[in-house]
Amino acid sequence: MLTLGSLSVDVPVVLAPMAGITNAAYRRLCAEQGAGLYVCEMITSRGLVEGDQHTKDMLVFDELETVRSVQLYGTDPVYVGKAAEILCAEYGVAHIDLNFGCPVPKVTRKGGGGALPWKRGLLGEILEHAVAAATPYDVPVTMKTRKGIDDDHLTYLDAGRIAQESGCAAIALHGRTVAQAYSGEADWDAIAALVAHVDIPVLGNGDIWEAADAIRMVEQTGAAGVVVGRGCLGRPWIFRDLAAAFSGEEVATLPTLGEVAAMMRRHAELLCQNMGEERGCKEFRKHVSWYLKGFAAGGEMRRSLGLVDSLAALDALLAGLDPAEPFPVAELGTPRGRQGSPRERVVLPEGWLEDADGSGYHLQEDANETTGG
Ligand SMILES: Cc1cc2nc3c(=O)[nH]c(=O)nc-3n(C[C@H](O)[C@H](O)[C@H](O)COP(=O)(O)O)c2cc1C
Repeated sequence: MLTLGSLSVDVPVVLAPMAGITNAAYRRLCAEQGAGLYVCEMITSRGLVEGDQHTKDMLVFDELETVRSVQLYGTDPVYVGKAAEILCAEYGVAHIDLNFGCPVPKVTRKGGGGALPWKRGLLGEILEHAVAAATPYDVPVTMKTRKGIDDDHLTYLDAGRIAQESGCAAIALHGRTVAQAYSGEADWDAIAALVAHVDIPVLGNGDIWEAADAIRMVEQTGAAGVVVGRGCLGRPWIFRDLAAAFSGEEVATLPTLGEVAAMMRRHAELLCQNMGEERGCKEFRKHVSWYLKGFAAGGEMRRSLGLVDSLAALDALLAGLDPAEPFPVAELGTPRGRQGSPRERVVLPEGWLEDADGSGYHLQEDANETTGG
């Protein structure tokens, strides 16, 4: 059980917000497998406040999604507060997470995402505005962050204290710096250090590839729960294994290729229901290589699936896969999704590191930032 303010989550597992991935279709697909909290892809505060259509299109919830959880991006306390108010009043959300971990240069260049916690005062102002807006609705606010900008500019312990003082219900820590992006290994010791530093629940994030990793993370760090990102790409059934693991069972679901194909079909179908067949199929394409990772399906098959434009075409292609092919167990426990290399230099606004407070600092708020964390 994970307690985030007024919200109780049966299994201490959170689907990480992932831009372009954790839309309503994917959240439903994962929820059909397990239990936990499934966070919507990131939306920008300014886009929401200004009624931007693209932002509104992302705020779609499945009819079975009773707990609506949304991640907001923002750098301006007033916009973030207003956006939190809109989410509570108009969208009936039950949880708001704030993104302070995005490593994308376009974002950090403006002082957003993972760069922002360096400005301790500004971070506090943003969190306080969000909490003040959400409190009348009894909606918990959490923040998600990284260790810091780089090893010489760590921010996570201060961020934890500020989150606690601002009334946040929890803090999620991805055990990497912005400079590391997705490379190397997540530092779970930092998660343990944060747990020791604050009284609010800490959610551990980074490199959970199997359910057993989640249990290990909780045991090693004392985290109140886990946030799973890349480990569920092309494997929504990991949420089944995670739910079992947290109830003391060891389950490793090893679907045959036929079962994976059925999951692919379900995923595509949900996307098409939400977005229409053309866009749904287009969105589905990016998931193909994750689903087929390690299976024998040949290059021609993968290429065709990567161009699929209708459910009928998808069915025809999936019928060509060998349904009996066993799950490629060599893939278990290995990284998937983006990894890349570390950044030599994190792009920051001019003079950013010279002042570590930034109270009242005015940053240009972006309405169309959808690149994620
Ligand atoms: C494709 C992709 C998109 C992401 N988008 C977001 C985002 O919008 N907000 C965010 O806080 N983190 C985002 N992340 C980061 C993840 O939430 C997570 O912190 C990170 O992947 C580390 O966890 P993992 O090792 O379980 O993947 C994204 C990650 C990926 C791979």
